[in-house]
Amino acid sequence: MALQATSLLPSALSTSKEAKLSASLKDSSFFGVSFSDYVKADFASSSLKCKKECNSKRAIRAQTIAVATPGVTRSVSEQKKTLREGSVIITGASSGLGLATAKALAETGKWYVIMACRDFLKAERAAKSAGMSKENYTIMHLDLASLDSVRQFVDNFRRSGRPLDVLVCNAAVYQPTARQPSFTAEGFELSVGTNHLGHFLLSRLLLPDLNKSDYPSRRLIIVGSITGNTNTLAGNVPPKANLGDMRGLAGGLNGLNSSAMIDGGDFDGAKAYKDSKVCNMLTMQEFHRRYYEDTGITFASLYPGCIATTGLFREHIPLFRLLFPPFQRFITKGFVSEEDAGKRLAQVVSDPSLTKSGVYWSWNKASASFENQLSQEASDPEKARKIWEISEKLVGLA
Ligand SMILES: NC(=O)c1ccc[n+]([C@@H]2O[C@H](COP(=O)([O-])OP(=O)(O)OC[C@H]3O[C@@H](n4cnc5c(N)ncnc54)[C@H](OP(=O)(O)O)[C@@H]3O)[C@@H](O)[C@H]2O)c1
Repeated sequence: MALQATSLLPSALSTSKEAKLSASLKDSSFFGVSFSDYVKADFASSSLKCKKECNSKRAIRAQTIAVATPGVTRSVSEQKKTLREGSVIITGASSGLGLATAKALAETGKWYVIMACRDFLKAERAAKSAGMSKENYTIMHLDLASLDSVRQFVDNFRRSGRPLDVLVCNAAVYQPTARQPSFTAEGFELSVGTNHLGHFLLSRLLLPDLNKSDYPSRRLIIVGSITGNTNTLAGNVPPKANLGDMRGLAGGLNGLNSSAMIDGGDFDGAKAYKDSKVCNMLTMQEFHRRYYEDTGITFASLYPGCIATTGLFREHIPLFRLLFPPFQRFITKGFVSEEDAGKRLAQVVSDPSLTKSGVYWSWNKASASFENQLSQEASDPEKARKIWEISEKLVGLA
């Protein structure tokens, strides 16, 4: 496939929002590091079963309609509790952002990291070569492209007896050059099946565990992306994310009697990834609307910046992989290193000043975190509700 000129367009933050939010910019210096990357670019090619799940000490109440605007800060008493070592699950911690985040957290000595990975050996080698100390992490098998594996992971994690303080849904697949869809074990198109449905089941099943935790600030973080946001330049590079009326998702994304695409259209691997990221960001907000008030759990998403060197682009054509990092580094200046992106995500996991729920975090040119604005579709409460309801049927929760 030829490298398209459009695929190298710089992306940009919603500038109006950036201006509006300048007042709320925070000094995001983390672990003594001051970041200096731009956040304006991403790669650019392209009545609920809650009660059953929630047998924990606090009741988690399901609501069928949106009740709160995302973005509420719970402060005070949380800070007063004694801080023990935190326990965080990070999916896809065998490379890229997930590995860098695992390393950043483990290095503090304040976090025990459960690396939830599909390839045990790869994860073990990655942790070793990152210099992570064995006492700060463990690896548990999780294949998000299999709902059985997700359920098995949850069972195994519970058997470990560890508390769950923070869950980071980070893993993703991106198939920009695929001509035909591929599918998960249950027959869902792979990108949406892995990035959204696998994480949806995982986070729904682990919500009671998070709710049981006595850690001062419990968080559920789902990694988003600028590419799913059509209020940015990057989000406007074709093919654009668009969930449409979600007829494909409702049909099971199986490519047989329904389309493999959420909107019911023809398969496009790059679009499937972007659509999956919209689902991630909408799911975070729906969690916030349904559970924040009753649980105090912080629900957040983020765009970590353009980490042009990660394995996410492994299926892209070689020329793209060669030119993309220098293009982002020198032309758009949107490049962020894996290490710095990991520190950003680690901030969202652990920084006491980032406890606001319902927020999509980004970082400005001075690498200060700020609450970014999602596109109309990625913040549509009706779509979020519909995705939630369809998804819980698909993963067997309803
Ligand atoms: N790179 C960027 O510029 C960028 C920008 C915005 C957002 N993001 C987001 O950042 C997150 C991490 O991406 P990355 O750039 O760090 O890419 P990456 O290095 O390819 O990491 C993706 C991780 O997901 C894992 N994974 C894939 N399929 C899985 C499955 N079925 N079950 C369990 N794990 C699976 C991979 O495991 P294996 O090691 O076994 O393949 C890998 O560890 C993604 O959510 C992505 O959307 C990235």
